[in-house]
Amino acid sequence: MRFLSIGADAQISRIGLGTWQFGSREWGYGSSYAEQEARAIVRRALELGVTLFDTAEIYGFGRSERILGQALGEDRDSAFLATKIFPVLPVAPVVEQRAVASANRLGVRKLDLYQVHQPNPLVRDGTIMRGMRALQRVGLVGEVGVSNYSLDRWRAAEAALGSRVLSNQVQYSLVTRSPEQDLLPFAETTGHVVIAYSPLAQGLLSGRYHRDNRPVNRVRIGNPLFLPDNLERAGDLIAALREVADAHSATPAQVALAWAIHRPAVVAIPGASSVEQLESNVAAADIDLTDGEYQALSAAAARFQPVTGPAALPRLVRARFT
Ligand SMILES: NC(=O)c1ccc[n+]([C@@H]2O[C@H](COP(=O)([O-])OP(=O)(O)OC[C@H]3O[C@@H](n4cnc5c(N)ncnc54)[C@H](OP(=O)(O)O)[C@@H]3O)[C@@H](O)[C@H]2O)c1
Repeated sequence: MRFLSIGADAQISRIGLGTWQFGSREWGYGSSYAEQEARAIVRRALELGVTLFDTAEIYGFGRSERILGQALGEDRDSAFLATKIFPVLPVAPVVEQRAVASANRLGVRKLDLYQVHQPNPLVRDGTIMRGMRALQRVGLVGEVGVSNYSLDRWRAAEAALGSRVLSNQVQYSLVTRSPEQDLLPFAETTGHVVIAYSPLAQGLLSGRYHRDNRPVNRVRIGNPLFLPDNLERAGDLIAALREVADAHSATPAQVALAWAIHRPAVVAIPGASSVEQLESNVAAADIDLTDGEYQALSAAAARFQPVTGPAALPRLVRARFT
């Protein structure tokens, strides 16, 4: 495992574990996954040196936090636990009460990283950061983070908190590269962190899915990337991943993760549907891509032009019923 330093005596694993899948109906992995496999994934992650575990109060309406906390058990203190508040009513007393509820579900006295799940379009961050400041003061929260924030709003959140907002958790992978425009340069030059979610584009970059083998759960049925046309368009990118993977005796998914954490301020939090996937994802931290490989993958990614936005809507509806 490789680590990213986030302070004088703190570091987080470059590959973490995303746990939206735990206990959430929309991934459709079923009860034996929630009751057994999820625990085995967490235990193996700890053994392999993963310290960063990401969850949210909204995942499975608290179930993900509960499953993660129980699986960590006595090892909770060796993990860097990140959870998120969904900012519906982000006034300080509510923020404080919700942090306590998350800590209780996780079975911890301190949330290492407490993130605002997404910007509230109506309420500016001064309100929520008042609550965050109070939580840091009493020691219930270590670091504060945001998620799905623009650079301007990330900076405004930091100004409102009055100290660093360590991280911004955003979608970042070979098929979603907008963070390269401003978030990554900002993080790299100022000691902040970009936490890459959906680093495998929800499994697309594994190369496992194609026109005749599409995933069927609710999350991916609603994701335009898995439209038959887009799966076909992704063929060249998957081929580029396979070529690099062959050179490293690795898999396309591992190379996609190695690409995501190639930039120095990025850590990635792939989800996993099995212990084998978790093991494979962790091993990706040790793959060193050459400059040539990194550029070739970036160029293949730039050529991938999926149908998205309003143009994808009628196709999503059609794909859902065929
Ligand atoms: N802040 C936010 O708004 C936000 C949004 C989304 C996600 N997240 C966080 O980010 C985490 C990861 O994102 P995500 O789950 O959306 O997408 P992801 O990590 O890109 O994809 C996860 C899926 O990819 C497949 N996969 C994982 N490892 C694999 C491997 N080694 N080989 C082949 N397939 C593999 C698995 O699905 P199959 O085996 O079923 O194909 C798995 O469920 C979440 O768990 C959550 O913690 C945050």
